[in-house]
Amino acid sequence: MPSVAEIFQSMEYGPAPESDAEARAWLAKHGGKFGHFVNGAFTKVGTTFDVFDPSTSQTLAKVTQGSVKDVDAAVASARKAFTKWAKLPAHVRARHLYALARMVQKHARLLAVVESLDNGKSIRETRDLDIPLVARHFYHHAGWAQLMPTEFEGYGPVGVVGQIIPWNFPLLMLAWKIAPALAAGNTVVLKPAEFTPLSALLFAELAQEAGLPPGVINIITGDGRTGAALVEHKGVDKIAFTGSTDVGRIIRKATAGSGKKLSLELGGKSPFLVYDDADLDGVVEGVVDAIWFNQGQVCCAGSRLLVQEGIHDRLIEKLRARMEKLRVGKPLDKAVDMGAIVAPEQLDRIKALVQQGQDEGATMWQPSWSVPTKGCFYPPTLFTNVEPASTIAQVEIFGPVLVAMTFRTPEESVALANNTPFGLAASVWSENINLALDIAPKLKAGVVWINATNLFDAAAGFGGYRESGFGREGGREGMYEYCKRMKVEGGRLEVTAKPARPAAVTSVLHPAASSAVPPIDRTPKFFIGGKQTRSDSGYTRSILDAKGKRVGEVGEGNRKDLRNAVEAAHAAAKGWSKATAHLRAQILYYIGENLDARGEEFAARLRAMTGVTAAQAKAEVQASVARLFTYGAWADKYDGAVHSVPIRGVALQMNEPIGVVAVAASNEAPLLGFVSAVAPLIATGNTVVAVPSEPHPLSATDLYTVFESSDLPGGVVNIVTGAKETLAKTLAEHDDVDGMWYWGSREGVKAVEVASAHNMKRTWCHAGAVHWSDGAAGEGREFLREATQVKNIWIPYGE
Ligand code: NAI
Repeated sequence: MPSVAEIFQSMEYGPAPESDAEARAWLAKHGGKFGHFVNGAFTKVGTTFDVFDPSTSQTLAKVTQGSVKDVDAAVASARKAFTKWAKLPAHVRARHLYALARMVQKHARLLAVVESLDNGKSIRETRDLDIPLVARHFYHHAGWAQLMPTEFEGYGPVGVVGQIIPWNFPLLMLAWKIAPALAAGNTVVLKPAEFTPLSALLFAELAQEAGLPPGVINIITGDGRTGAALVEHKGVDKIAFTGSTDVGRIIRKATAGSGKKLSLELGGKSPFLVYDDADLDGVVEGVVDAIWFNQGQVCCAGSRLLVQEGIHDRLIEKLRARMEKLRVGKPLDKAVDMGAIVAPEQLDRIKALVQQGQDEGATMWQPSWSVPTKGCFYPPTLFTNVEPASTIAQVEIFGPVLVAMTFRTPEESVALANNTPFGLAASVWSENINLALDIAPKLKAGVVWINATNLFDAAAGFGGYRESGFGREGGREGMYEYCKRMKVEGGRLEVTAKPARPAAVTSVLHPAASSAVPPIDRTPKFFIGGKQTRSDSGYTRSILDAKGKRVGEVGEGNRKDLRNAVEAAHAAAKGWSKATAHLRAQILYYIGENLDARGEEFAARLRAMTGVTAAQAKAEVQASVARLFTYGAWADKYDGAVHSVPIRGVALQMNEPIGVVAVAASNEAPLLGFVSAVAPLIATGNTVVAVPSEPHPLSATDLYTVFESSDLPGGVVNIVTGAKETLAKTLAEHDDVDGMWYWGSREGVKAVEVASAHNMKRTWCHAGAVHWSDGAAGEGREFLREATQVKNIWIPYGE
């Protein structure tokens, strides 16, 4: 033991161990073996696997590998509990969530120690970040439970929710999933990661003690096979997943066409942008929090350091000096900065990627000290001379490895920042608030921190763009992930009473109306980039009326036509997304006005195509005009928010357009269905590639001239006619399409959802008829929510 005088000389940290006695006593109480937690109690222990302390490689406990039968029992228990739980008065559910928050606070230290033992993360983090945030999440959602009837009027719970979480923040991810699910009235079957199941089991046990009704939370342990069984279970109404993009993709495909609601929080390769006027000492501490927090095993870790050229060398020098001072060691030592990597598999993965980085020619640097040789430890690591396209610059390493690159101008920094398929988070460092606030909206990321990093709060939604997944956790938007719209009774007016005819077959000749003078051909072309263009295929399809007589022809779109349309939509996107909401509103009103002026012509077309009555046709045109006015009205009113997050500062919630969105419009209500989809998308700044009703496309093609006379910039709406299901699938597969809305058959929904997994585009799919004329079903905030994605920009202030 060094003397006080010696410590003053060396300024070395001494050990500050946290006791693990209580945690070990809890494990011992269970004989070191666990069944699942179902219907309010532990089940019998089944076939088990070992759970390790990664800092010592010693076994902590044995937990049960969940079988299909086990998943069945858990879902049945959740289903049984759902009936009562969903019907509880809002205040009672709020009290339960409040009780969970208090329970977490009361047992905070035990939960923190169990988490550190199981995951290997430092007690400093579990004690000061994970567990307080868990409590905060339950408090916040106790509030939403209380406010559900008024703030989510017309919405109810989805039902039984299957939740699958990763190992990096075991209890925090549980809270992010369970709190909103329960607040909205759902019941839950949750599968923790196989490396880190213990805190979930402890939480369930404590929740029972806190009076939560049996079956509301069920925990089922096991590996990916158990997760897959939960995903595929027919009794589950929604899947919420956090984990790797690869597994996210599998889940997207597995749930396609099942009608299950889905939210995915996947990987990232988040940029940490440093401009030449940044406070470099602040930056260094920011980098420590960005990439060495939780050993870099963080989905939103700032793992790509992008530095303006002039300050690169100075920053790297400061960073290396700071890295020399970081302390890696026993997770339960309170003076340790970094604990252990979660498991040998993960350690091997990190080592392999670091090797690959060196093989690809980047320069690797690590501090001079070495990490403990027993257990899964890895030192903080910095790569310089990194090529932006190299593996280590593109792939999620999920370890304490930072890659640094340089840029010259702000434009270049944005291009570099957005140069991965991911879009989870970003961090912007500059003393110039104008620059920082100019950059933030240009970054493709769900969260942007300005002069800060890794800030989280229940009031501000968290989640990604692009291959980082979709859906948000936290905030009002996070609650909607666990709600569904309740059926609204009454008030429906059918505008197209007749069922749609099957698609007319291409190249089959149908008799046209006879005439002495040959009629002028009026076959509509496609509408691409504001121009009417011919089909690439050279084929046309006949459009028949209700009696089977030809009323017109349209072009037969193919892959190339769609490619051109997507390109045109991208070209228009930049200008349109930046156009003021006031301008977008005016254009929507103008389209409505011009449609109204040609109302009789459009009504006649509807009658001729679908065989509806004159009154029905007129009603559909008038409803379409009104809908255009509705979204003209919304264009400058679908505001974001300023969240009250617990920092000195604000989090700005911005509702951003998704980008290029493909629409496969409903076959019914060929005019109103088309307008109802396109109008909310363009009102919120998206550009569109639309495939109109397959049997009745002429109302949509008639709209070209309305668009042309209404100042709609070319490329904002592009229309390609033809075989809807084929075209929809091609659009869903297209990597440059950011989102897809589909109305059609069950098989069509499945095809679109499966194909969308390729670039993880957001989909909004509907099987069956829609009552388009019903304002509660055919328009409103739900359309606007689906047309946008939330970006939260955190702006701390003060000197
Ligand atoms: P993973 O995605 O395989 O595991 C996450 C969860 O999904 C676990 O509970 C696992 O049991 C479950 N799972 C695995 N296969 C499944 C399937 N087919 N169906 C349903 N559930 C399934 O992640 P893993 O293997 O633990 O880590 C691999 C890499 O993934 C990491 O190196 C990291 O790059 C990334 N990752 C990203 C996370 C994030 O938060 N973004 C979290 C964890 C891992």
